[in-house]
Amino acid sequence: MASHTLPKGSGGYRIPRRLRAILSLDDFEVAARRHLPTPLFAYVSGGAEEEKSLHGSRSGFDRYAWVPRVFTDTSARSLETTLLGQRYSAPFGIAPMGISALTAFEGDLIQTRAAREANIPAIMSGSSLLPMEAVVQENPDAWFQAYVPGEDARILALLERVQRAGFKTLVVTADVPVSANRENLIRARFSTPLKPDLHLAWEGITHPRWLLGTALRTLLRRGMPHFENSGVGRGAPIVSANVMRDFGARDHLSWRHLALIRRHWPGTLVVKGILD
Ligand SMILES: Cc1cc2nc3c(=O)[nH]c(=O)nc-3n(C[C@H](O)[C@H](O)[C@H](O)COP(=O)(O)O)c2cc1C
Repeated sequence: MASHTLPKGSGGYRIPRRLRAILSLDDFEVAARRHLPTPLFAYVSGGAEEEKSLHGSRSGFDRYAWVPRVFTDTSARSLETTLLGQRYSAPFGIAPMGISALTAFEGDLIQTRAAREANIPAIMSGSSLLPMEAVVQENPDAWFQAYVPGEDARILALLERVQRAGFKTLVVTADVPVSANRENLIRARFSTPLKPDLHLAWEGITHPRWLLGTALRTLLRRGMPHFENSGVGRGAPIVSANVMRDFGARDHLSWRHLALIRRHWPGTLVVKGILD
């Protein structure tokens, strides 16, 4: 591919040695399985119950194939696209992923910075461990994804915080009114917060690169990570024996709440997860 068709900023990088063997997205999965403690890898890679949706969304794409048209002068090809009024270098971006700062040191900052440099959309997760205010400073075009609580006053307070932080696009995730039944997470002993026990300690010791480069580095530089963006205040810590996360009565959410959000959110509003 000619360099002018690559996203802005991706041309001049030297690929770090550790990434040279990574040629496809699937290769990342093999590397991540080695690098991450088992509970974290289960969180990142698994789906709910028998993982039918996870595999179905992948196999759905297998029904499509490209039919190349030849002799059409592709020299001016470009991946650029316009989305919600903004010109991007590629028609894909970074989806919101919870607790990214536990899978990589300052993961949310890294992702949003990389997206800015590559000029692709980036959505910061509401289930994240770095304050939204720090992330939007890295990338003023980043979108914020909220798991809005099912209570009007808390919704309005969260909207105000997101707006004050400087986000212009709000993504409301609609398809998680209750937590998913993640059987794979129970098997892998993953929970939020993580329980500080011998099993977790063993997982850390047996994944030293992650332990030093992500866990200890985070503890030393930033202290114990907390869910920072579920509401206006700080939420639960990521490691705790007995703290419960507050999901804010999300099972009450209805279209009335979306109307409320639309009335009070002055920026662009995206609803994520409509399946029906
Ligand atoms: C590790 C992980 C964490 C996720 N966390 C969030 C989240 O915090 N908020 C959200 O709206 N979606 C979350 N999602 C869903 C993704 O944003 C995306 O919608 C989903 O993975 C489907 O896209 P895909 O087929 O490209 O994986 C998460 C997905 C993964 C794999």
